Amino acid sequence: MGPIEIRPGIFWVGVNDRTTDLFEGLWPLPSGVSYNAYLVVGKRVALIDSVKNHYAEELLQKIAQVVDPARLDYLVVNHMEPDHSGALPLLRRVAPNAEVLAAPPALPMLADFYGLREGVRAVQDGETLDLGGKTLSFYHIPFVHWPETMATYEATERVLFPCDAFGGFRALEGALFADEVDFALYEDEVLRYFSNIVGMQSQAVLRAIEKLKGLPIEVIAPSHGLVWRREPQRIVELYARWARHEGEPGVALVFGSMYGETRKMAEAVAQGVREAGLPVRVLDASRTHVSFLIQEAWRFQGLLLGSPTYDTDVFPPVEHLLRLLERKRLRNRVVGIFGSYGWRGGATAKLAEKVRALGWELVGTVEFGGAPTPEELRQGRELGRTVAARVKTAAVQEGFRA
Ligand code: FEO
Repeated sequence: MGPIEIRPGIFWVGVNDRTTDLFEGLWPLPSGVSYNAYLVVGKRVALIDSVKNHYAEELLQKIAQVVDPARLDYLVVNHMEPDHSGALPLLRRVAPNAEVLAAPPALPMLADFYGLREGVRAVQDGETLDLGGKTLSFYHIPFVHWPETMATYEATERVLFPCDAFGGFRALEGALFADEVDFALYEDEVLRYFSNIVGMQSQAVLRAIEKLKGLPIEVIAPSHGLVWRREPQRIVELYARWARHEGEPGVALVFGSMYGETRKMAEAVAQGVREAGLPVRVLDASRTHVSFLIQEAWRFQGLLLGSPTYDTDVFPPVEHLLRLLERKRLRNRVVGIFGSYGWRGGATAKLAEKVRALGWELVGTVEFGGAPTPEELRQGRELGRTVAARVKTAAVQEGFRA
C-alpha cells in the first residue's frame, strides 16, 4: 500500500509487518500488525509517529512520495515504544533540522533509546502548534500505553492521532479504513491487542476517553490497524466497554488436562452452559497461546476454569493464565471451577484461593478423583448451568448491549 490521503493534506505513510512472529517478543502475530505513521502537510510538515526500525527505509520511501523527507519540520513522538519510534535515528539523519516533539516524560527516553538530546522539545498538555494551514494540539494521555504517551489532534480536518489507543493487531489487507472492510473479521485481533497490550491500563484508557471527548473528532487514526473515518464512536465505545471490564453474556471455558479426565468434565460443563442458553468458547490451555486465553477471558463475563492437580497445585498453563490476568487486573467476572486428581486433590482449592484474591465471584466448584463418574459429570453440567444463569443475571443488571 502506497501513501493514502486520509483527509486533504493528511497522509497515511505506515507499513505492514508480516514477518515479526512475536509482538513485544511475547504475543503471536498470526495476521501481522501495521505501524501507522501520518504526514500532516501545511506550510510546515509534521510526521506523526514512525515505525519499527526494520521498516524505517520503507517509511522513508513512502514519505518521499508525498514530500521530500529532508523537508520534515517536526517529528511528533506520541509514544516511545520502539514499534512507533524505531525509525527516529534514520529520520534524524535524513532531516537533521526536524524538531522532535514529545511529552515531557519522553525526553529522557529519547536520550536512553536513541541518544537524541538536541533538537528535542517537550510539548505541554493542550499546547498548539501552527503548521500554516494545519494546526496540531497535543494532549497527554499517560499510560495509554506508557507514561509519556500523548495524542495529537489536527483541528482543521478534525483528525485524532491517539497512537496505541483504538488500535489492534492484524496487518491491513489492502484497505486502510474500517468502513472498507468487514470489521467483524478484525474485531478478535483488536480485542486480543486491547486485552494483552493496553488492558492493564484500563483506567488510563477511560481517563483518556473522558479527556478527549470534548474534541470534535471526525477521524480516528491510530498507530496500529484500521482508520475510522465513519462512525469513529464505534471503536471508542468498544474500547470503553472493554476498559470497564464489561464482558459479553457468554462464557470462556479454559481447561488443562493430562490424560483426558478433566477434558471430559470440560465437555460436560460446556454442555451445561449451552443448555442454559449462552455461548461458550472451550480452550485447551496447553494448546492455545495464553494471549488468546486472555482475549476470551476479557470478552465474556463468565469464566470456567478446569485443572488437574499438578505438583499439588494448579496445572501450570492454567496458573499462568491466572497470573497474567492478575497482572492485567481483569475484574468483574463470574467464575466456576472444576478439577481432578490422581491420589490427592489440591488444584480446585488453590484455584478458589486465586479467584477470591482476584475479587471475582465464585459460584461453584466440582472436584473428582480419577475419571469422572456419571454423577460427577451431571454435577459438571449443573456447574455450567449455574455459571450461565449468574452471567445472565449480571448482564441484565448491567444493561449489557452487544
Ligand atoms: Fe504500539 Fe505501546 O506501542
